Amino acid sequence: MNILAIETSCDETSAAVVADGARVLGQVTASQTEVHRQFGGVVPEVASRRHVESITRVVDAALGQAGTGFSDLAAIAVTMGPGLLGALLVGVTAAKAYSLATGIPLIGVHHIAGHVAAAMLEEPDRPAVRPPFLCLVASGGHTELYEVDASFRFTRLGGTRDDAAGEAYDKVARLLGLAYPGGPEVDRLARLGDPARFSFPRGLLDDPSLDFSFSGMKTAVLVALDKLKRQGQAVPVEDVCASFQAAVIEVLVEKTRRAIRLTGHRTVVVAGGVAANRGLRAAMGTMAAEEGIGVHFPSPGLCTDNAAMIAAAAYARAREGRFDTLELGAYADLTL
Ligand code: KG4
Ligand code: ZN
Repeated sequence: MNILAIETSCDETSAAVVADGARVLGQVTASQTEVHRQFGGVVPEVASRRHVESITRVVDAALGQAGTGFSDLAAIAVTMGPGLLGALLVGVTAAKAYSLATGIPLIGVHHIAGHVAAAMLEEPDRPAVRPPFLCLVASGGHTELYEVDASFRFTRLGGTRDDAAGEAYDKVARLLGLAYPGGPEVDRLARLGDPARFSFPRGLLDDPSLDFSFSGMKTAVLVALDKLKRQGQAVPVEDVCASFQAAVIEVLVEKTRRAIRLTGHRTVVVAGGVAANRGLRAAMGTMAAEEGIGVHFPSPGLCTDNAAMIAAAAYARAREGRFDTLELGAYADLTL
């Protein structure tokens, strides 16, 4: 069963064809990173315009790569939210137009369900995971813990009360004058620095909930940088990155450990853009070994926004014939 999926929730225009919710037959992503870098972050209006310019070309290219036509498709899946409204509208409108023109049914997908489903894609040397499992989603817009049942339904256990983990990475990167998007750059520099040089707060670590808070860490970095400046000292960028990353990782890992102990799950999936972080992958691996459970990450390329994950998330519904109508909307905020 082949599904064509479209993802345009932020600054990547992506289309993919995925077989049986697991095998990526073709995927093409037009990245806008270079355009937004000059502004230090994603400019919503610019993102929407770029999506409009790229969408049909990207869909054609993904179908071409997969060697399939519309006649081979069982469904057209699209990210319906959450995300930038104007950006989402481009993908949803394109998906509806293709559906109307071809008669292929439509499935609207929650972006976070997509990130989690990335772990359900088969990859070379990486077995696809199947629910039920516990999952941590850490991206630019979200940091949440969910239980996912065998039917791929989600129960939220906790989440951030302020900034998302990726947002904190991007803000700290900006304070340090690093290029957008900051997460990968902080990750790279952190490996060269001393994680014990600065002691940044571990937000809500001692709180019994499964909630997170990252805005205090970002503020602590700002205070530390101001102090160095006042003292006329150079900023040890690598040490700041390493110390900040140590704080983020400790909180993400320990809250996930707590969720595992509370729920009894034997499998944890870590997904979203921040799951590409090398330090986080290593620390989660250590925690999983200590707890005697399995941990799964999508490969780094499938952690950040892509359409294949949206097709994977739509598969269970396509099999059950649970489709959406052409009334499907786009939503900046959407609960899972
Ligand atoms: O999932 P994603 O592509 O988009 C959202 O849905 O938000 O996540 C993007 C976020 C950005 O904040 C980016 O800085 C962060 O993920 N990110 C990373 C790494 N790669 C991407 N953060 C830390 N380390 C990385 N290697
Ligand atoms: Zn995302």
